[in-house]
Amino acid sequence: MTSAFLLAARGEPVPHTPVWFMRQAGRSLPEYLEVRKGVGMLESCMDPDLVTEITLQPVRRYGVDAAIFFSDIVLPLKAVGVDLDIKPGIGPVVAKPVETLADVEAIPDLTAEHVPYIDRAVRNLVSELGETPLIGFAGAPFTVASYLVEGGPSKEHARTKAMMFGAPDVWDALMRKIAGIAATYLEVQVGAGASAVQLFDSWAGALTPADYEAFVMPHSARVLERAGALGVPRIHFGVGTSNLLGLMGAAGADVVGVDWRTPLGDAIDRVGDRCVQGNLDPTLVFAPTEVMTARAAEIVEAGRRAKGHIFNLGHGVIPSTDPDQLKRLTEFVQTYPR
Ligand code: CP3
Repeated sequence: MTSAFLLAARGEPVPHTPVWFMRQAGRSLPEYLEVRKGVGMLESCMDPDLVTEITLQPVRRYGVDAAIFFSDIVLPLKAVGVDLDIKPGIGPVVAKPVETLADVEAIPDLTAEHVPYIDRAVRNLVSELGETPLIGFAGAPFTVASYLVEGGPSKEHARTKAMMFGAPDVWDALMRKIAGIAATYLEVQVGAGASAVQLFDSWAGALTPADYEAFVMPHSARVLERAGALGVPRIHFGVGTSNLLGLMGAAGADVVGVDWRTPLGDAIDRVGDRCVQGNLDPTLVFAPTEVMTARAAEIVEAGRRAKGHIFNLGHGVIPSTDPDQLKRLTEFVQTYPR
């Protein structure tokens, strides 16, 4: 039987609204904190047994309709030799930020040989998961470029956008480089058995629609096109992207991820004949259960008008989230009357 997640992603009738959570694996789970003791983030991403265990943890606990591969958007950069680390509580930090064309050209293209542990982890997972689909993912060119150019997390993305506006040739080369790496990274995951992919353009909301369309969309479109050739559904997600949802769909997504700021009904109008994913405010899990489930019900109801709807939070699970509350949310969505 085809999973509810894959049916929804293809816009086919579903037995129930499928649900999974961005960052469902991670610091909100005591069993995650336990296995990560003394193991660095990137180190854990390169250990197939650990990746398998961490990816399975939320599936066991919540019975979600899909697993998301445990990795990070900067892992493929690390794999090709970029000097970077993921610092606890901070995020990705790059030793020598990218400034020039020579800096871009010094980054090797990714090949499957760079990431044998990804292939192995995905194969292990697919056999362990049985009927539950595995979502592979990559960081989109703009969001990954922001880490490479800023050297770390940034609110304004000022250096990144300065390159975009002021050094178009360097920008174009950088975006092509990252797009190639992201597409190959997705090909490795799907080749090993992942049944859907999500392209995370978390920081695209920093752009106007015109700038997104001119400087970013063609590059993300190339990644989505290569993923599309593999025949799996493609989810395209960003934060604060209310006015970009139409373009993010048109870039080649089957499913557009929606953050919590845009009412799901508005998002459905903007994406046209595509599916949607989302979009409960991740802080609602801190409210009383009835308050959380009442909001979840509104989202499930709104989603009925979409070509297909996959329930999710509007961004990742906040680390202080009570896992029992996510368990109740999962059951609520899965048993909500059709
Ligand atoms: O469960 C899942 O969703 C899969 C795992 C996953 C991680 N990162 C693990 C992780 C996924 C899909 C990502 C993607 C990612 N990484 C994005 C896009 C999604 C988003 O949240 O918008 C971004 C922007 C990054 C970059 C990044 N990596 C950040 C901002 C951080 C958090 C820094 C911090 O510590 O608060 C990381 C580190 C990271 N990636 C952690 C996890 C579980 C935390 C590190 C840890 O547990 O030690």
